Amino acid sequence: MNFAERMSRLGTESAFEVLARARALERQGKEIIHLEIGEPDFDTPAHIRDAAKRALDSGATHYGPAAGLPEVREAIAKDVGTTRNIPVTPEEIVVTPGAKPIMYFIITALVNPGDEVIYPNPGFPIYESVINFVGGVPVPIPLREESGFGFDLSVLERKASERTKLIIINSPQNPTGGVLELDQLGRIAEVAKRYRIPVLSDEIYKAFLYDGEFASITRFPGMEDLVIILDGFSKAYAMTGWRLGYGVMPPALAEHVTRLMVNSNSCTASFTQLAGIAALQGDQTPVAAMVAEFKRRRDLVVSGLNQLPGVSCRSPRGAFYVFPNVKGLKRPSAEIAETLLSEAGVAVLGGTAFGQYGEGYLRLSYANSEANLRKALAQMRPVCARLAGA
Ligand SMILES: Cc1ncc(COP(=O)(O)O)c(C=O)c1O
Repeated sequence: MNFAERMSRLGTESAFEVLARARALERQGKEIIHLEIGEPDFDTPAHIRDAAKRALDSGATHYGPAAGLPEVREAIAKDVGTTRNIPVTPEEIVVTPGAKPIMYFIITALVNPGDEVIYPNPGFPIYESVINFVGGVPVPIPLREESGFGFDLSVLERKASERTKLIIINSPQNPTGGVLELDQLGRIAEVAKRYRIPVLSDEIYKAFLYDGEFASITRFPGMEDLVIILDGFSKAYAMTGWRLGYGVMPPALAEHVTRLMVNSNSCTASFTQLAGIAALQGDQTPVAAMVAEFKRRRDLVVSGLNQLPGVSCRSPRGAFYVFPNVKGLKRPSAEIAETLLSEAGVAVLGGTAFGQYGEGYLRLSYANSEANLRKALAQMRPVCARLAGA
């Protein structure tokens, strides 16, 4: 079989590959602690599960409108309007199976071959993968440890031009846990307005902020018709397997994205969408409890990592990942990750799974039990000591 040339340009998300390798080791009888995959270890709150059951029993099992059920778009518009303090109408919302399709659809709808796209590096690998897939030119902006893994704004200001057709930002960020400060968001907004560049703002981790208030780039005047928000239910409501997300965008772009939905998924599952209303409008205490628990785990993991030979780790302000510096282990980060999996039984990701500027770092998800996190740190110690030559 001959494969289309474009398939050679499509990347992947290594977390799923490492998960598959870890599962294969488990089948051979090895015990593995999973710190590679980015999903809360909590169950979806009961009132959301109950709403889905009620929806199924009342017949929400059919096709629905491609852009989402009207009542769901309305509930999302209301929630986004409240959380970002901006006016939002249902015509600006497109509901998708998970938030990930929004990346694919927005890049497909806005980027022609040869167009430049600015995005964070290290960053979520799907951005770069889809930019390459559509024939765009990836323009990575390094996120540096010294500046708390914020955008290197001098690089952004130098690289942005009439050729830039999209800027992608992500705060709180995967994989570093970094958060863009208000002044950084303001400078990005200035660049976007100068060249009229749309900004895809990936806000999927907005609930996972451990100090300060969440700030969206939507707050800056003049950004109303330039921002596309990507958000969803996977992380905040522990609903990764439900596949429910959405984009908020100018209505003209929403029409194109809806057509992409018609051409790919037809629609998002109706009972899943109705459970989404319960998530947005129901009790928010499970979210707060989960975030409080993650903050405790973050502190535990950061402190434990800083005690390992050859490893240093900043305390990230958001998401549920840490991105420790492992340059003291004197090996490429992918090799360190491999050694930790095979020798320590701990699955983590090498920083280069998130782009070239991730070299020298690992990504660990602390969405795992405190007992497992302690065990993982203990099992990592002898391996780090050997690699560091300590
Ligand atoms: C930065 C970022 N954006 C978007 C997503 C996609 O979320 P979903 O599972 O809703 O497709 C993820 C998932 O890991 C993510 O890390």
